[in-house]
Amino acid sequence: MARAHLEFIQSQVLAWFTLPDTAARPGVACKVLSKDPESGAVSVVLKYPAGFEIARPHYLDNDEEFFVLDGELRIGETAYGAHSYAYLPDGYPRANMTAPNGATVLTFFEGPHKNVFEGAKGCDRAKLVERIAAADRKTWGDSVDPKVVGAGLQKLMLRLDEKTGERTWLLNMGPTDRAVVTAAPLETHPHVEELFLLGGEISMPQGVLRRGAYFWRPGGIQHGPIGSLAGCTCFFRCKEGPFSTDWTDRAETIVWDAPYRPTLPSTLASHAATEYRGTDPY
Ligand SMILES: [Fe+2]
Repeated sequence: MARAHLEFIQSQVLAWFTLPDTAARPGVACKVLSKDPESGAVSVVLKYPAGFEIARPHYLDNDEEFFVLDGELRIGETAYGAHSYAYLPDGYPRANMTAPNGATVLTFFEGPHKNVFEGAKGCDRAKLVERIAAADRKTWGDSVDPKVVGAGLQKLMLRLDEKTGERTWLLNMGPTDRAVVTAAPLETHPHVEELFLLGGEISMPQGVLRRGAYFWRPGGIQHGPIGSLAGCTCFFRCKEGPFSTDWTDRAETIVWDAPYRPTLPSTLASHAATEYRGTDPY
């Protein structure tokens, strides 16, 4: 069974737990956003404590994709500051790994994973994205689907897997004037759409997503209309198939302040009753 439809939850309400000494990131605080019970693939937020260190050369025996939310992570000579991205395939050599002042990192593992300290096996260089520092980019020049309704749209492609068509990208949307924009079409994808909201807010029929919101939407589920009164910055992943969007011809009225009515797996069902309105970032 693949991951359940989860749309949406504020990550702030999920519990932190400390990863054990046997884990690939011992002593790091973790909260699970979603997990595939069959493959073991997970989407998590990791909070590295100041002084975190894996001092010896090693590699991870599965793919790791990450985006730094705050702080700085270092892998060998490469520093990953806030809003830095990487896709490090299975076997990618790491001289060491440190977080001198701590870091909070949105992280995706493609399945069970452990550190291997002996030998080297190399990695699939075609999958490797060693570092993209989004904060250093003056402009995000990648094209946005013209059917997306919103002002000031900017997109930065972070990863595009030539074999599977899976992709990862950032999308910025400026504030929408609700006196001008009142409706938007609905959309459907054949693949999973996964989102972590980095900032701002998004209005959807299921409620208003705010910073730290997360969803995992399986393919085939029609969604929208969406809008953003405050503007938003989104981290998106397309998983389990190449990206495509089927739009409706008709536009539907955007509901700007819908009450929280999420679709949640049974393990998170208790969170449906209360909308998070705190101020924690994640
Ligand atoms: Fe979508």
